[in-house]
Amino acid sequence: MEGFLEETTRELKQTAEGRVLCAVSGGVDSSVASVLLNKAIHERLQCVFIDTGLLREGEGDEVSRFLRDDLGVPLEFIDASKRFLDSLKGVSDPEEKRKIIGRVFAETFVEYAAKKGPFRYLAQGTLYPDVIESGQTSAPASVIKTHHNVGGLPKDLKLELIEPLRELYKDEVRALGSLLGLPPAVLRRHPFPGPGLAVRIIGEVTPEKLRICRGANTIVEQVMQEEKLYDKAWQAFAYVGDDQVTGVLGDSRRVGSQVTVKVVQSVDAMTADWYRLPHDVMERISSRITNEVDGVVSVVYSISSKPPATIEPQ
Ligand code: XMP
Repeated sequence: MEGFLEETTRELKQTAEGRVLCAVSGGVDSSVASVLLNKAIHERLQCVFIDTGLLREGEGDEVSRFLRDDLGVPLEFIDASKRFLDSLKGVSDPEEKRKIIGRVFAETFVEYAAKKGPFRYLAQGTLYPDVIESGQTSAPASVIKTHHNVGGLPKDLKLELIEPLRELYKDEVRALGSLLGLPPAVLRRHPFPGPGLAVRIIGEVTPEKLRICRGANTIVEQVMQEEKLYDKAWQAFAYVGDDQVTGVLGDSRRVGSQVTVKVVQSVDAMTADWYRLPHDVMERISSRITNEVDGVVSVVYSISSKPPATIEPQ
């Protein structure tokens, strides 16, 4: 990895003049790409983090702490949450939600580039498997989900693409990230879908469901970490829909939401096995969610693998 780092740094320094724009999500790939670019061409780099309002608790603060404060990456935040949530009002179809989120992301990004430009390059954390995938010519027979990366290239930007990680596999990116001083917690982080919590909310994204989903996801991640099970799972999360179930509080009836917890193991997300979570861990998660997330009266555990289910519920 030292050799790769040296060579890539040299190549990046040699690119023709011009400013570089890089969208970061807080995920491993874009974080490593931004730190690598920062090391090589700090003075012409501008990174941007768009808050879609669909992120997990504290995600923006965490990204700002380790990228901007600790590693000195020039990073600007755009709080576009109102714009995203307004655009999603009344929309319950998952693919429609993805389309809207992708469009609003691209619009926000293009506006930023126009306001803060000119930029000559767009940098992305594309990995080798993504390169192979997009090089495939035969289209899938039917699209199950459009996994467009929300941080993807808006077509009308007309920027030259820089992809410093395009020859690397994920484990190599983690090794590079470690060499560059990224915190282990960031490098080990589970994948998180580009459309964020919108695909963990069945049906319309409402402020109430978003609050419940965010609170429950935080608890699932915390308990998995505390129980030292986080690294054994591919993903561990919670989702919520519109189901209202009857609960009880003291002597009275209390109708509330039902949350589903899902933990899966996988190697490439093409297939996944539900994780045999110890019962006492399930119980801890369940009682924390019903006690700490207002309005939740029931928690269930998903025992569906992929196939026939998919990993995310939407
Ligand atoms: P599914 O739900 O299709 O997910 O079994 C497989 C993997 O992809 C993630 N995922 C997404 N990632 N945009 C993304 O960037 C999306 O729209 C999207 N939908 C699912 C999911 O979290 C899992 O890791």
